[in-house]
Order: sequence, then C-alpha cells, then structure tokens
Amino acid sequence: MPELAVVAPTYNEAENVRPLLDVLEVALVGIDFEVIFVDDDSPDGTADVVRSISQRSPHVRILQRINRRGLASAAVEGAMASSAPYVAVIDADLQHDERILPVMLARMKTNNLDLVIGSRNVGDGSMGEFSANRVRLSSFGRWLSGIACKASISDPMSGFFIVRREYLEEVVRSMSNRGFKILVDLVASSERPVRFEEVGYTFRNRIHGESKLDITVGIEFIELLLDKKFGRFVPVNYLMFAGVGSAGVLLHLAIMTALLRPGLSFATAQVISSSIVIAFNFMLNNLVTFRSARLRGIQFVRSFLIFYVACIIGLVTNVELARFLQANGLQWYLASAFALFVGSVWNYWISEIFVWRVSQRRKRLRAREVTRRAEPIEAELN
Ligand code: GDD
Ligand code: MN
Repeated sequence: MPELAVVAPTYNEAENVRPLLDVLEVALVGIDFEVIFVDDDSPDGTADVVRSISQRSPHVRILQRINRRGLASAAVEGAMASSAPYVAVIDADLQHDERILPVMLARMKTNNLDLVIGSRNVGDGSMGEFSANRVRLSSFGRWLSGIACKASISDPMSGFFIVRREYLEEVVRSMSNRGFKILVDLVASSERPVRFEEVGYTFRNRIHGESKLDITVGIEFIELLLDKKFGRFVPVNYLMFAGVGSAGVLLHLAIMTALLRPGLSFATAQVISSSIVIAFNFMLNNLVTFRSARLRGIQFVRSFLIFYVACIIGLVTNVELARFLQANGLQWYLASAFALFVGSVWNYWISEIFVWRVSQRRKRLRAREVTRRAEPIEAELN
C-alpha cells in the first residue's frame, strides 16, 4: 500500500501531466507513493492523458468529475479516494517545488504533526516572480484568513501541503469546500489547534497553460471566510445579499447628496435614486450572490421587472412596519433597523425563489442528470 498519496487537481493541464510525473519520480525515490489527478472534465483532454499513462503505471490514477468545478473540493475528493496515511496536495502546473516533499514527509513523521505546509514566507521560501499586485493580494488574503484560522500560518494561501489522514478524517465533514483556498478551510474547520510546521520553497513560473485565478476566486474566498465565521447561524448567500444591499445604501446616500444640491425636491430625488440603486443591486446580485444562476437575455429582463416590483413592495412594507413599531412605543432606531431587516429578508426570499429561482434550477439540473443517466439504458433496450 502506498504511504503517500499525491493529489493533483487539474483543469486544462494536459501538457503538464507528464512533466509533473517525471519530477515526482525523481523527488520521491525510496518513498512508496501514488498520484491521483482530479480533473474537472477539462476540454483539453487532461483526463485522457492521465488514463493512457495509468495503463502502464498503476500508481497513477484519474478521478474525472463531470459538471463540477473547484480546486478545494477536487483536492478533498482525491484525498478521500486513496487510503494512504499521508496525503500531499500539489498544483499540477509545476509551480510548487516537489523537491521539498521528502523533507515535509520526514517532518510530519518525526514531529508527529497533522499538517506540513509548503510556504513561500518562511526560511528559503519566496513568492518567486510574482507581480507586485499578486504579492499584495496574497498578503491581504493572509491578513483576512487570520480572522477565520486559529493558527498563525505564514502562508495560508498555499495550495501545497501534506496532511495526515487521521486529521483529514477529523475535519472533512466540517469543511466548506468552497472555491480555491483549501488550506484555510482545512485549518478553520478544526475543533482543536492544528499541529503544523512550514517548509520554505520558491514559487515557480508557469511554463505551460494559464492560471485559473480570476475575480471569482476572490468572491469564493470571502464566502469561505463568511461561512467559517457565521455559517452556523445564517446562510452565506443571505450575508452576500445583505452585503450587496449595504453597498446599495451607501450609493443611495451618495446619489441623494448629489441630487439634493441642485435643489431637486426630496421626493423626486428619493424616487430617482431608489430606481438607480435597485438596478445596481440587481446587477451586483446577478454577478456575485447568484452568479451560479446568472440570468441573461430575455430572462434577465423578465426577472429584473419582478425584482423591481418585489423591492418596491419590500420598501413599502419596511416603511409601514417601522412606522407601526414606532407608534407602538419602540425606539425609532430599533423600529427602523428591525423593519430594514424584515425588508431585506423579504427581498432575499423573493430573489431566491422568484427571481433567480435557485431551487427550481437545482431541480432542473437534477432532472437533467437523471435523464442523461437513463438515456444509455434506453438505447440499450431499443
Ligand atoms: N480539478 C480542478 N478544478 N482543478 C483546478 C480548478 C478546478 O476548478 N481550478 C484550478 N485547478 C488546478 C489547476 O489546473 C492547477 O493545477 C492548480 O489547480 C492551481 O491552479 P492555478 O490556476 O495554476 O492557480 P494559481 O497558480 O493562480 O494559484 C496558485 O497559487 C496559490 C497561492 O497564491 C495555486 O497554487 C494555489 O493552490 C495557491 O494557493
Ligand atoms: Mn498555477
């Protein structure tokens, strides 16, 4: 049985599969290991490349996921597909320095650790030729993740580490599995302090293919942190929705200030500004909060109108409720805040059910999956 499973998530890395296996063979001499590529059905045929290699090398395996995306969940599922006592997670694009893996494994065993992290910020480690902006982004991420993690990790953004299977089993059911940043998830999901050490390495440049890092990665990271911090009490999606709403309130105040200056009447200004802000909120929610159910074309227009009507109903309810509560002796700020909260829950509820129709979409997806599974059987019967 292999002692070490090396899990490499891939998306469009066909050209990197062979080179990665070559360098791993060299780095891991004397260690009994297997390599599991977890590929999200990439169009460049990465999975086929792995399959053809594994015909001859049984220690190389593929886990091909269909209709799925996500680096963090890919790493976890690859780890769960093996029974090795130690699991290494490494990028397939050769940017992580595989030569420190034996050092990491040795540390893990001698010091009886849960986790050994390949870090760009300790010892000989460095960001390599990262642009100044990526370095800044990375330190901002580090600062943010400090809020969710109880451990002080020098490189929480790292996707390069070895984890002990028992520790993984301990935390895997509490993980959020959202997005890119698996290490933060792993450590923040732990009930107890994690026993870890870090080993420095220099982040290499990518030779083949391109990075999948984009704005979505940032949004998913924020969602992950919110989930870890508040997920037990409120759905993360509602928090995102409320965040968008708060941005809308700020925008509203700015527009009102601008409109009142030229002497527009308060009511006119309020109507103009509210219309703009509702449109702004709709766009932002479509881009961020409900991005997995993003609306386009005619659906966009139809849902926009529903959203408008719902927001106006929400607004009227909000004002009436606040007035009612205040008339019945509640402090004005409590009445106002409570009514605002009720209004936002109302808007969220309508948005989820009638505007972006999240549950209907899920049902449709599930139905499609079932028919697809049934098709080959029917074909056989005919
Ligand atoms: N299965 C799967 N699904 N794999 C994915 C997906 C996905 O949706 N997205 C990316 N990958 C794979 C890539 O193919 C690559 O092997 C690895 O995950 C890292 O993706 P890159 O797109 O190369 O990430 P990066 O170089 O920008 O980010 C790296 O830097 C971070 C440190 O700031 C990664 O190493 C991260 O793991 C690391 O945390
Ligand atoms: Mn990369």
